[in-house]
Amino acid sequence: MHTGLVSPKGIWWKPAHKAEKIWVAIAFAWCMVLFAMMPLWHFKGGQNPSGIRHKVTAAAYARRTQEFIRTYQVGTDAGIPVVEPPPGSDVYLQATSFSWTPVLRLRKDAEYIMHLSSLDVNHGFSLSPVNINFQVVPGYDYALRVTPNEAGEFQIVCNEFCGIGHHLMVGKIIVIDGDATASAGGGE
Ligand code: CUA
Repeated sequence: MHTGLVSPKGIWWKPAHKAEKIWVAIAFAWCMVLFAMMPLWHFKGGQNPSGIRHKVTAAAYARRTQEFIRTYQVGTDAGIPVVEPPPGSDVYLQATSFSWTPVLRLRKDAEYIMHLSSLDVNHGFSLSPVNINFQVVPGYDYALRVTPNEAGEFQIVCNEFCGIGHHLMVGKIIVIDGDATASAGGGE
């Protein structure tokens, strides 16, 4: 009789078929390739940037952002301060439910150290239309070396569900060409 309660006769002690051995070898080799790709991609792929990470309290980060705004503010845009920091400086972007502060005006081909942090819950920094995504986590000041390589207006979209106003949480980065300062407007 053969039911589910009676185990079928096993053959596991017999040598594996040649085809099975080949597939196990291929699968193992591919695992090793993918395993090696993880560190390799970090250095060669240019896709996983090495950030500078510090612990920070929400209050301290808010103070630092306010100081940054006071120092470099050049105008406002829909109630949000517009800030134009000099090339090479530290730039602070603060996420709160449900806004990004301030609006950044950066120069094309200039390097900045861009700091990201949240004052409340997890948010996601997503820059459109370029496909750049970062987690914005409360308690951590995550800094990236960035060099804008394209002039234009870029929209920051929150890509981490953070509450009822998540879909309204948009911000802006304006990249101006070095020579086109006058035509880019703003109160300089
Ligand atoms: Cu912030 Cu979604």
